[in-house]
Amino acid sequence: MNIIQVKTASGRYDVVYARGALSRLGSAVKGLHDAGGLFVLSSPRVWKFWGREVARNLRSLPHDIILFDDRESAKRLATVETICRKLTRAGADRRSLIIAVGGGVVGDVAGFVAASYLRGVRILHVPTTLVAQVDSAIGGKTGVDLPEGKNLVGAFYPPEMVIADPSTLHTLPARQFRSGFYEVIKYAVIGDADLFDFLESEMDTLLKLDMRALEWVIARCARQKARIVSKDERESGLRQILNFGHTIGHALETLTGYKRFLHGEAVGWGMLAATEIAAATSRLSERDANRIASLVVSCGALPAFPRISSHALLKTISRDKKSRSGRVGWVLPRKIGAAEIGASVPDKVISRVWRDLPGTCNRARKRN
Ligand SMILES: NC(=O)c1ccc[n+]([C@@H]2O[C@H](COP(=O)([O-])OP(=O)(O)OC[C@H]3O[C@@H](n4cnc5c(N)ncnc54)[C@H](O)[C@@H]3O)[C@@H](O)[C@H]2O)c1
Ligand SMILES: [Zn+2]
Repeated sequence: MNIIQVKTASGRYDVVYARGALSRLGSAVKGLHDAGGLFVLSSPRVWKFWGREVARNLRSLPHDIILFDDRESAKRLATVETICRKLTRAGADRRSLIIAVGGGVVGDVAGFVAASYLRGVRILHVPTTLVAQVDSAIGGKTGVDLPEGKNLVGAFYPPEMVIADPSTLHTLPARQFRSGFYEVIKYAVIGDADLFDFLESEMDTLLKLDMRALEWVIARCARQKARIVSKDERESGLRQILNFGHTIGHALETLTGYKRFLHGEAVGWGMLAATEIAAATSRLSERDANRIASLVVSCGALPAFPRISSHALLKTISRDKKSRSGRVGWVLPRKIGAAEIGASVPDKVISRVWRDLPGTCNRARKRN
């Protein structure tokens, strides 16, 4: 059993990673639970696969189940209101405990409900996607989208505990699973050269859902995320490193109306771009740039790169909420396992890399 501790100013909690960890849910909840009600928040899809198992582990504990749509388009304030009203009608009070079972959308929505319902009730996360297990369930970022943009309303709200069971990934659609690996590669590039070596040699094994290998990889990423958010919960410095690949990734998602790419896939293209920018500005050796690009394309085919002008790209990235007064701080790798944050890059370098990105991807495919 891997247990990783997150210690931040707003809370301290354990992240438990192991195959079969779900069977510990009942005892974990008993340890946290006082006289308040227990409310499981999940989506119909996740519940179809994992509801019976979750309910079995909570069998001696009376609980209510609230299911909501976990499409990105439903990650809205309206969903938060509906859930809060259901909690009120079910008699949830300040001592209540919420258990969020699902991917990043369920976790972000349920987390924001927990942060705001009665000004805060406790929450335990049971992440069921690779993205949620390595990333979104750890670090306390919660929130919803507005029509104007993603994650624009939210709160930092740490959970009581995170229980991540890699076995739940068995039922994840293959494309969703693969897409999570781009976030895994992100961790390897920005801070874990050993993880990078492991991914280089074991990507095929991992994509075949080898549980031992997956458990090791997930714990490795989780440890890094826990370390980063423990040092910088509010993203005033170090946490920005997690945005590697996300500057162009977010722009790609925005410019294609969130339809063409899964988030991880957009980050895959974004990492290829940031890697090329780092090489073009002499921050990264050609050898390391080639290794990073090869690993990114080894996860499978990325959805085709859209025909979007570099002018439109530059406009979009300067509007990103992570840019400061229009100035973009890039996260660029310096070598495998280390990255620089807040880097300035001339527009003409970005434009050149952007235009050549399909070529960069093709060359990496040919090398593999
Ligand atoms: N809070 C953070 O720090 C943070 C970090 C990264 C991403 N996010 C957010 O996470 C969201 C993306 O989350 P995601 O990638 O986990 O995807 P998701 O939550 O959108 O889930 C993807 C799909 O898989 C289904 N699913 C989930 N678990 C399953 C399982 N075990 N078996 C079968 N189907 C399952 C879901 O019902 C959904 O249809 C985005 O909204 C993003 O903004 C938040
Ligand atoms: Zn991401």
